Amino acid sequence: MGRVADFRNGDRKIIDVNGRSVGVFRIDDEFYALRNRCPHQFGPLCVGTLAPRVISDGPGDVRIDPGPPLLACPWHGWEYDIATGQSFMGPGRGNLSARSYDVTVMPGSELAGPGAGRPRPDGRVPGPYIAETVPVSVEDDYVVVEC
Ligand code: FES
Repeated sequence: MGRVADFRNGDRKIIDVNGRSVGVFRIDDEFYALRNRCPHQFGPLCVGTLAPRVISDGPGDVRIDPGPPLLACPWHGWEYDIATGQSFMGPGRGNLSARSYDVTVMPGSELAGPGAGRPRPDGRVPGPYIAETVPVSVEDDYVVVEC
């Protein structure tokens, strides 16, 4: 998790999420998160180079796809769709996709306080006891990686 204001367009941050190294990328106003571990030989995928996808309908027709870029692993250059983690190398060799994570932008006010405005992932039902709380104000939006 991090503040949206800390990510300029094109920025990436490698963060620890529950013991996993995850790369979080901002491309325009979209955020993407991939595990920082290349499925090929476990290289540090998220420090690799981003490049736009080149598309063509035939000879003489070369265009830049306006969609999310590809991320190339720094070790051997395998490329992955930054949005899905899909690899475009090694077809027929099983699942070689990088792990991708959902990223949402939430108001900081929803991340603070009991319940945090979101359903509990473990399905627990709140009990009758409530500890004393202290008001907290959060002003900025934050990038949240769902693992
Ligand atoms: S370890 Fe990433 S391409 Fe080989």
